[in-house]
Amino acid sequence: MNDPLRLTVLGAGYLGSTHAACMASLGFDVLGVDTDAEKVDQLNAGHLPIYEPGLTALLRSGLDSRRLAFTTSYPHAAAFGDVHFICAGTPPQPGSHHADLSQVNRCVAGLAPLLDRPCLVVGKSTVPVGTARRLAAELAEAGDGVELAWNPEFLREGSAVADALAPDRIVAGVMSPWAEGILRQVYARPIADGTPFFVTELETAELAKVAANAFLATKISFINAMAEVCEAVGGNVRALAQILGADSRIGSSYLRPGIGFGGGCLPKDIRAFIARAAELETDQALGFLREVDAINLRRRTRIADLACELADGNLADVPVCVLGAAFKPGSDDVRDSPALDVAQILHGMGARVTVYDPAALANARRACPELGYAATLAEAARHAYLVLLLTEWAEFAQLRPDDLDTLVAQRNIIDGRGVLDPAPWRAAGWNYRALGMALTPPPSTPLAARRSAKGGGQGASR
Ligand code: UDX
Repeated sequence: MNDPLRLTVLGAGYLGSTHAACMASLGFDVLGVDTDAEKVDQLNAGHLPIYEPGLTALLRSGLDSRRLAFTTSYPHAAAFGDVHFICAGTPPQPGSHHADLSQVNRCVAGLAPLLDRPCLVVGKSTVPVGTARRLAAELAEAGDGVELAWNPEFLREGSAVADALAPDRIVAGVMSPWAEGILRQVYARPIADGTPFFVTELETAELAKVAANAFLATKISFINAMAEVCEAVGGNVRALAQILGADSRIGSSYLRPGIGFGGGCLPKDIRAFIARAAELETDQALGFLREVDAINLRRRTRIADLACELADGNLADVPVCVLGAAFKPGSDDVRDSPALDVAQILHGMGARVTVYDPAALANARRACPELGYAATLAEAARHAYLVLLLTEWAEFAQLRPDDLDTLVAQRNIIDGRGVLDPAPWRAAGWNYRALGMALTPPPSTPLAARRSAKGGGQGASR
């Protein structure tokens, strides 16, 4: 083994490009590998195919220092690396919720026959539990001294660099003390900085990732379920979230109510977890995750229904301004974006939707060409009958009524992320609405009367 260790990173997507650049910044020589020659050329020229704050600078300094390079060549990677990180994507299989492991499998199948000296192959991709044990058996046949470990990544888009360099924890699923020692060398810096380092068997390491995502999704859906109850009784879910979050046993993070979770991880990972549990005949244990998913999707139709209500039950030809397309602020990712999904539902109900997002316009346009787009917030809001705030970018969360007063045709705003202070908007004559906040008449009205008052209209069905 070289000292310091030489690392390869197989798969130069979101996870791989972040991991490669961060490991180079820690002083390792790193070779990133991807089968997409165009992406490799782009990365070698210092261009990231994704939007991630701080990552371009790390990529460029890695390239400049010659500690970082990218290649399409597996033979080069096999000859170069002491530790090979598998960072391939695991999207859902077409027409199913099961994870598609073909990219991970191809990485291992491509590398294994080329390994002719002791090395550690480390899985970082999010996989169904049991995958690592199967891959370990394949690698054991590749040669003496070739071993597998599993080391899941917990990075969040928008803060991926900080999450990679200073993680909350490092999980090392290993089969030997030797593999543990290698991973301790790789992560010497964060370990020295106090990051907890958990050593487990392979299965627990795989589960650590999906269980964390399932828990986060459950927390978000829990508060959104409370929002549904608040809507029925005239409560205020924002205040409720603050009260719950003040309990140190519960904590306030991932307890922000709104239109729910999206992105390339949480939704697909909980669905793949449910699918894997069924294969393992433990589906009863994860039945609640189906409800977590259902609550999450219900928020999207609920907000569309609210928009329809504000348009007197008919959105046909109503100009609607949608603020936000990314699944969360700080990202240009529109995969399973609640904001874009709501925009599509409104479009399907006949509204004339114009979307503005500070970073995700190009991706949104590609994903949903049928929607209208504007290059600025003001352009999107001009002549709108209704404004919906659906991704909580700072420039939206800081909006004041007089930023929009003279642009819009009607002063209707729905705050889908619960980030605006209702008081100044209402004082300025706006009809301000938010999920989980006094959508119904006051609690003194009998529930049955309120139910019948809510009926009628167009309704967003799926
Ligand atoms: C997530 C996990 O956090 C990360 O550990 C894992 O590695 C990948 O998946 P990410 O997809 O980047 O990361 O998004 P995250 O910041 O967790 O947010 C997920 C979604 O939940 C977003 O749509 C966000 O808007 C939503 N969310 C988050 C809420 O609706 N309420 C909250 O309180 C928190």
